[in-house]
Amino acid sequence: MPIVGHGVDLTEVSRVERLLGEHPDRFLERCFTEMERDDAGDGARRAERLAARFAAKEAALKALGTGWSDGIGWTDIAVRRLHTGRPVLEVTGRAAEIAAGIGITRWHLSLTHTSGHAMASVIAESDG
Ligand SMILES: CC(C)(COP(=O)(O)OP(=O)(O)OC[C@H]1O[C@@H](n2cnc3c(N)ncnc32)[C@H](O)[C@@H]1OP(=O)(O)O)[C@@H](O)C(=O)NCCC(=O)NCCS
Repeated sequence: MPIVGHGVDLTEVSRVERLLGEHPDRFLERCFTEMERDDAGDGARRAERLAARFAAKEAALKALGTGWSDGIGWTDIAVRRLHTGRPVLEVTGRAAEIAAGIGITRWHLSLTHTSGHAMASVIAESDG
């Protein structure tokens, strides 16, 4: 199936740690769904996992070819973890409208993270 968009993003874990330290409730509620907050857990790698999900949102915007100014909310693009551990993208709201408008029918997502950085790659596919 044709690829209609690809985006990558690299997020510094220290940036997420800073936001978590300064405005924890506002940052978590504004940027992440409840599922994403749960998947990040409360262990040592929490900030890494949140950074990876943050990167996924930015990478998906790049794949869409748009920006946050287009009325898209942070939680319109969310990462869900399958029982295998594989992450999948869930796109709703304004982001889903834009995706439908350019024929996107399927998303592919891959994440990686270390204590320093988190990276996401997003590919958007259409049916034809
Ligand atoms: C998937 C795997 C390659 C991750 O590699 P890693 O170097 O440990 O970690 P990375 O930082 O590069 O990647 C972590 C991300 O990989 C993704 N991931 C995990 N399992 C995955 C899978 N089955 N398929 C695709 N992506 C997967 C997740 O998004 C994870 O981030 P998250 O935990 O924040 O959601 C590794 O965990 C692996 O080989 N898993 C195979 C299954 C496995 O070993 N299960 C253990 C139970 S027996």
